[in-house]
Amino acid sequence: MTSQTLREARKYEEAFEKLIKEEERPAFHLSPRTGWMNDPNGFSYYKGQYHMFYQYYPYESKWGPMHWGHAVSGDLLHWEYLPAALAPDEAYDRDGCFSGSAIELPDGRQLLMYTGVVKEHKDNAEQEVQTQCIAVGDGIDYEKYAENPALDEKDLPEGASRIDFRDPKMWKRADGTYACAIGSRPADGSGQILLYVSKDGVHWEFQSILASNNNRFGKMWECPDIFELDGEWALLTSPQDMLPEGFEYHNGNGTLCLLGSFDEEAGVFHERHNQTIDYGIDFYAPQTVLTPDGRRVMIGWMQNWDACSIRSPEAPWLGQMSLPRELFIRNGRLCQRPVRELEEMRCNRAAYSDVTVSGTVKLEGIKGRRVDMEILLRPGNPAEPYHKFAVRFAQNDRYYTSLSFRPKESILKIDRKFSGSRRAIIHQRRSLVDTVDGELKLRMILDRFSVEVFVNDGEQVMTATMYTEQEADGISFFADGTAKIDVVKYDLQ
Ligand code: FRU
Repeated sequence: MTSQTLREARKYEEAFEKLIKEEERPAFHLSPRTGWMNDPNGFSYYKGQYHMFYQYYPYESKWGPMHWGHAVSGDLLHWEYLPAALAPDEAYDRDGCFSGSAIELPDGRQLLMYTGVVKEHKDNAEQEVQTQCIAVGDGIDYEKYAENPALDEKDLPEGASRIDFRDPKMWKRADGTYACAIGSRPADGSGQILLYVSKDGVHWEFQSILASNNNRFGKMWECPDIFELDGEWALLTSPQDMLPEGFEYHNGNGTLCLLGSFDEEAGVFHERHNQTIDYGIDFYAPQTVLTPDGRRVMIGWMQNWDACSIRSPEAPWLGQMSLPRELFIRNGRLCQRPVRELEEMRCNRAAYSDVTVSGTVKLEGIKGRRVDMEILLRPGNPAEPYHKFAVRFAQNDRYYTSLSFRPKESILKIDRKFSGSRRAIIHQRRSLVDTVDGELKLRMILDRFSVEVFVNDGEQVMTATMYTEQEADGISFFADGTAKIDVVKYDLQ
């Protein structure tokens, strides 16, 4: 039975979606049908299609009582909206249906687990109590489980907070049973990931503390995901209130990847390595899916919580998903590349080799805001390295965003302070990259309101949104000193 609250949301989104013109949205990054979007939820492959649900408030372009928006795609790039899947319409989730995940049941139905939020007023203070709830459906309509919540404070280990207990990520194990990783806050005030197990996907029990922050990486660990990758295990989580460590991590809500091993019997993850997932400005709360052909693909929320004011509150939508990225491990690090399906969207190739860049250079045919561009950079003369190289894009007489590289420091910087933003928010970020003799390989993907930069075949990624007017479609190259580049550019259609 569809509730009144969900019916209203579905009616509203259908009417208001029509007011947003196609060219006012990204072309191949998912944006909310209308209003507000944050975390990806329930990213899954079900009945022959990819399903993406998302944290959704249809009525305004700002965060509000959370619904789940819903879209499907055959190739992870062209998305079709489906009606909103969940609304905060029950006593146990009346203040929000927070993030969660999806699995397929043996009978062919899809099961969603999400965090139900209820505000409690106690001693003149308000607190949000969080539980895990279930809904089962057919890929369009979902029925909430009569015995919700499926997990509540009774299922917490000692010391774990009932206020920070969210973002269940389920997966199916080889023996046909299910496991679920959930973000939690232990008594030390930082973060931990709890592991729950289930035989049927509906009845769950606590197994163990999967991983502990011990106050190292930020505070509360949100939106966990755990999976096998190239012979190791990866645990992704998004810590709140991080502090930078050199060029690794950055202030605020960030993304953390731990690589190591997972003792499934004991339910404990053993860390070998930690790193940032995305070194740019706008990336958070990623979730992954296993594709039918065995690729592990990740999509994150392409926005920074502290920088939401980059977009005017009058805009009809706010929030985008990142590109789907194939994950792999190389030299012991998590690496990412755009899904190969993107190559099918390429057209209008323009290629140049051995271009000398000294001062500013523009190249015929190299411009646009929906672009896939590869740049191979090297010094013009090995004996005389350049001081700085930059690509400026989304550029006209007034605006541009730039990616600049100083080989001596090995620092790549993204900077959108001239992108037309009127806000005093974070506009630049720097990353330490690997270079030998000033050589660097860059692949930049532009889609109207964003840029994602893949460095050295996916060793690092830097992501940023920019809401520059679309007329600003210039691309130019600059060097202080002399650099040489090979460039291949495609439009994406
Ligand atoms: C992360 C997050 C999640 C929560 C959701 C609420 O961005 O804070 O922890 O489930 O957003 O919208």
